[in-house]
Amino acid sequence: MRQVSIEDFSSEDYRHNPFPIWRQMRDEQPLFYDSVDKRWILTRYEDVMSVLRDHTTYSTRTYVERFQPIFGRTLAELDGARHIRERTIVAPAFVGKSLIGYEQFITRSIERISEKISMHNDIDLVKTVTNILPSTVITALLGIPENDDDLVFEIGNTILAAIGNSPEMVNRGASAHRRFADYLAPIIASRRASPTSDLISRIVHAESDGQSLTDEEIFSFISFLLVAGGPTTDTGIANYWWNLLSDPSQLEACRDNPERITRSFSESLRRDGPIINEDRMTNVEVELHGVTIPKDSVVVICLGSANTDESVFAEPETFNPDRNDLYMGVERKGGIHENGVSGHMAFGLGSHFCMGYQLARKEAEMVTAQYLLNVPKIKLTEDVHPEARFFDRFVGRLPVAIGKR
Ligand code: HEM
Repeated sequence: MRQVSIEDFSSEDYRHNPFPIWRQMRDEQPLFYDSVDKRWILTRYEDVMSVLRDHTTYSTRTYVERFQPIFGRTLAELDGARHIRERTIVAPAFVGKSLIGYEQFITRSIERISEKISMHNDIDLVKTVTNILPSTVITALLGIPENDDDLVFEIGNTILAAIGNSPEMVNRGASAHRRFADYLAPIIASRRASPTSDLISRIVHAESDGQSLTDEEIFSFISFLLVAGGPTTDTGIANYWWNLLSDPSQLEACRDNPERITRSFSESLRRDGPIINEDRMTNVEVELHGVTIPKDSVVVICLGSANTDESVFAEPETFNPDRNDLYMGVERKGGIHENGVSGHMAFGLGSHFCMGYQLARKEAEMVTAQYLLNVPKIKLTEDVHPEARFFDRFVGRLPVAIGKR
């Protein structure tokens, strides 16, 4: 068999089914050098986990170039004490008790979306539900009026389209961010003067060691939230629903036992998580698989491959919510990899572990229970599959017929 080459990542085969290529890389070239984009790619579970846990050696400053020109500096690109300081200010608003207060907004968002589609028999669940829900939820949590949903959706999409794109698109993204900052400025001023219970107010008043965020930092963080929490949750739910719809026995099993939603969502994040690659930059020279990687090199960690590593998960390319080698509970920042049970890494791991992991899970589980499981006789009408690009993998359409045999 020929060796994996860099052309494989842009091939049709990879786009439709990246698993064989990842498998071959894990077996033969666990440290792969991409000579075109000059970056090293790691594909084994153990390697990916070690890099994500070692934030001293591996920096997230790879995000500077991609994000800063559009929405300024965010915690994503910070390392060490500066990152911890900023994360400690905002993270509590996304986990634990805060989540309980958010459930009503998620339910309200699901109701608003399902009202709009209840009359249609043939719909695309991506266009009508998964694309819209995460942005509607973030808007509601922030405390932005419902009427401005579309504005936030449009701004989020323009910023997203700018990331890693041409200078013209980056300019467009930067103007969308400025427009959003102008929109947010009076809301932030009003929350400073009189606090409320919404997310903007929490962010404005959040402190760690007496420090809080400046207005400019808040604008950047909120724009970042649109892209960090929008398309990821959208595709996380879409890929999950694809798993349930393409094997109706899985959907039926969830209808019979809604508690199964939690484990089947975990299994979907493992096999079909939306983010398949992340990258880091080395702070020092490192030795990996007998190769010396210079300081300031880009190291890509392939989450998609790690999550389908056969040395960790049996029959890893099979979607099996009943497997006993995957940790099925709510994910952990430090990861879990012991006694034959391991966590998936779809939310990353370590200091930059996804801040919205509990919110994303809540949205996915609630919209599945409150919407999908209640739609009678729903079936896919086309043979669709997730498609891989370099950083993400998602099913772009879920055409279904509702109420028809
Ligand atoms: C299924 C949905 C989601 C997936 C798969 C996902 C995935 C990820 C991953 C892999 C990272 C780590 C990036 C890195 O290490 O370089 C991350 C970070 C982050 N995520 Fe998520 N995410 C999801 C939903 C959300 C939501 C709903 C929010 C908030 C509304 C959110 C906010 C963030 C933030 C703020 C970070 C940066 C954390 C830091 O740098 O300290 N994410 N996410």
